[in-house]
Amino acid sequence: MKILVLNGPNLGILGRREPEVYGTESLADIETALAPVAAELGLDPEWIQSNHEGDLIEALQDGAGRAAGALLNAGALTHYGLALADAVRAFPHPVIEVHLSNVHAREHWRRRSVLAGACAGGVYGFGADSYRLALQALARVLEVDRR
Ligand code: DQA
Repeated sequence: MKILVLNGPNLGILGRREPEVYGTESLADIETALAPVAAELGLDPEWIQSNHEGDLIEALQDGAGRAAGALLNAGALTHYGLALADAVRAFPHPVIEVHLSNVHAREHWRRRSVLAGACAGGVYGFGADSYRLALQALARVLEVDRR
């Protein structure tokens, strides 16, 4: 089952970016490590990263016909990306919000997610493992949807 794994601003420099907060693995490292996990879950992830909100919106719109769900780490757009939140609402499949860091234990402004209410659920605070847990959650949600 095809799914989207969407990554927003600054996630393309993961590994080099504040490694004490986000870890030393690049997005490509995470993608490689999770490929067998996804395959085991019957998921075929398409990884996309963009620093631009419009690209993420288009990825959701274009992907709606071929993907059964999505993981979304929108980076800072999480906190103010209202157009992206509307695109998540318009996406006709479950979306899981993902964050590497514990956004609730950091600056106050990171506690607000404009995406959370449009998502099936969220995983945050477990570093690269947040993606693994979110893949598992999405597989469960899709299984339940199919029943
Ligand atoms: C992040 C958390 C956001 O607040 C931040 O702007 C990011 C990364 C995370 O994965 O922890 O870019 O989404």
